Amino acid sequence: MAPQKLLLLSLVLFSFKSLFCHSRLDEDSTLGYLDDISSYGMAAYPSYYGAVHGERGAIAYQPNRFVLERVARVARFRSSQNVVNVEDYGAKGDGTDGTEAFEEAWKEACSSSTSAVLMVPENKNYLLKPITFSGPCKSDVSLMIKGTIEASSDQSDWNGKNGRHWILFSGIQNLYVGGGGNINGNGKIWWQNSCKINKSLPCKNAPTALTFYSCDKLTVENLNIKDSQQIHVSFERSTNVDVSSLTITAPESSPNTDGIHVTETKNIRVTNCVIGTGDDCISIESGSQNVNATNIVCGPGHGISIGSLGDHGSKAQLSNVIVDTAQLKGTTNGARIKTWQGGRGYAKNIVFQNFVMHEVKNPIIIDQNYCDSKTPCKQQTSAVEVSNVMYKNFKGTSASEVAIKFDCSTTVPCHDIILQDIDLAGGDGDATTSLCNHVNWTKKGNVIPLPCAK
Ligand SMILES: *[C@@H]1O[C@H](CO)[C@@H](O)[C@H](O)[C@H]1NC(C)=O
Ligand SMILES: *[C@@H]1O[C@H](CO)[C@@H](O)[C@H](O)[C@H]1NC(C)=O
Ligand SMILES: *[C@@H]1O[C@H](CO)[C@@H](O)[C@H](O)[C@H]1NC(C)=O
Repeated sequence: MAPQKLLLLSLVLFSFKSLFCHSRLDEDSTLGYLDDISSYGMAAYPSYYGAVHGERGAIAYQPNRFVLERVARVARFRSSQNVVNVEDYGAKGDGTDGTEAFEEAWKEACSSSTSAVLMVPENKNYLLKPITFSGPCKSDVSLMIKGTIEASSDQSDWNGKNGRHWILFSGIQNLYVGGGGNINGNGKIWWQNSCKINKSLPCKNAPTALTFYSCDKLTVENLNIKDSQQIHVSFERSTNVDVSSLTITAPESSPNTDGIHVTETKNIRVTNCVIGTGDDCISIESGSQNVNATNIVCGPGHGISIGSLGDHGSKAQLSNVIVDTAQLKGTTNGARIKTWQGGRGYAKNIVFQNFVMHEVKNPIIIDQNYCDSKTPCKQQTSAVEVSNVMYKNFKGTSASEVAIKFDCSTTVPCHDIILQDIDLAGGDGDATTSLCNHVNWTKKGNVIPLPCAK
């Protein structure tokens, strides 16, 4: 967008600033209002919106709202008064430890009586030990990461600390994290010491690079995150979350390095992310509701997963998940739902649509006999009930003969499973097959491979 157009649009939107800042995803009235503004914007800048629309080209994609919110954030950033630079608190940015400086700078930003921007400058490299950014804050805080933040590779820095986190954001409202910079978990030492890599070692937790715990009205966008110790980005017990334009990479061999993890989180939207790691691209766990993931590119890794659910006899509650427009390259799974035996509860109202697979081992899979433990899992009767799952418009290639695999519980069969317009051949155009255990499915349109006879 030309700078003058951006400025003009920013000015138009500036008057709506408070509205944008304080309600993003949750209130229907706000969404309606945004739509009104969107049509105004569309009329004023048809070519720009046209370009965005063409570029994404996705079904059910809403570029105008996306762009407008982004512009609103720019306006919010410009109007912020209090810029807190970590360098003013002693961070050097030469690869040396900046933990204390970041902690002090956060205190300042979080207690600011006007919107604060915590600035991490460009072309600098800050080492951080485990660190917590806690709310509530007095005003909105934006963390602008322009340079690089790198994790300490000394595992003893976690001694006496919670070993599950590296950077933790906790209990914050209206937080923005972005800036186009880099976050490097330096995970190699943790991977080497993982029981999945060295079987003679005990199984221990490794830190999640970025954890957002109990945050509300959160935006995370435009960051490059790599080589996390374990999970890269985790959203936990949060609400009204907007995630976009994240690039997440780690080696295919790195253990448990999920890209984006969502657990007990409601109203979350993940768009335009490119993720290649050693574990799930996106994993969505129990307690999550209203999860939309759109325009996701995955690979390598384990694909897009709902679950695992129902471990240790737990009760799962998961509903209203839409994964729309995903490309998976060389992943072990495409659209997967995985549950442990012995669980309870439900996973329902799930849509996977517009998927393109390149050599994916299990393009469509429901696995109710999931077991990821050192010892084999024993047979159990209770199970998480999986229902109302739609797979629509899948194309591409399966790296294994079984392209559709429904391995459901004997006692709680999967039901209301819909397959519509599926075309999954083998790598060389070879025929593929389906496997169905205890599943009640319906087919619409053309489905290749044909689901098993009932
Ligand atoms: C695995 O861990 C054991 C015990 O710490 C260690 O002696 C061994 O060298 C490790 N193996 C590799 C391949 O790192
Ligand atoms: C997810 O998409 C559905 C259908 O387009 C929409 O009704 C819902 O509001 C979206 N939810 C979020 C959190 O974006
Ligand atoms: C299977 O699905 C059909 C149609 O959705 C339904 O009428 C039927 O009762 C289901 N059967 C079982 C065993 O769930």
